[in-house]
Amino acid sequence: MRLFVALEIPAVVREKLAALLGDLRAIDEGPRWVRPENLHVTLKFIGEVSQEKLREIQPALAAVRANSEVKLELRGLGFFPAEKRPRVFWVGMQASANLATLARDIDAALGETGIPRETREFSPHLTLARINDGNLSEKLRAAIRERSAAEFGTIETSEFHLVESKLRRGGAEYTRVESFRFFDTEG
Ligand code: 2AM
Repeated sequence: MRLFVALEIPAVVREKLAALLGDLRAIDEGPRWVRPENLHVTLKFIGEVSQEKLREIQPALAAVRANSEVKLELRGLGFFPAEKRPRVFWVGMQASANLATLARDIDAALGETGIPRETREFSPHLTLARINDGNLSEKLRAAIRERSAAEFGTIETSEFHLVESKLRRGGAEYTRVESFRFFDTEG
């Protein structure tokens, strides 16, 4: 099974992003737009693992803790690796400092089970579209530029999720395998 670890987004934020996706898709059908129900913030991509490995991954993730909830303010639009030849179109975020620590701790915990560690620094973002050939129409670029400072609300959460990704002909289908509470809000 193909797995990743992610934060889910609240319905109000999803609705705002769905509206943006609808507007932009109407301008250009070319990019592979993420379906609103699939929007998430990836903390760690695990990749293909066996059922046996899954049983090691679950307790490793369950042991991860943070000092408080994480808070992410979603704002701004941008591209990876660069606007000139974009491959990923994303929503940016201003995240509490403990988000990067959480991602690092998840990576380290999974590293203990043999999952390859990240070599690049964690760069929090929410993918809206993938662009196959790096070509983006001028019309779409202009529409994105117009909205470059847009705000989409806040994610405040004390849970992350292990998610299975099934690659189907119509696009990826995500199912939650297990949820993990990394901070006890009850005190
Ligand atoms: P993203 O967060 O930039 O969209 C599931 O595929 C999630 O894992 C995606 O959201 C994706 O990136 C992230 N991911 C990170 N590395 C990946 C890789 N090598 N292959 C597929 N997905 C990856």
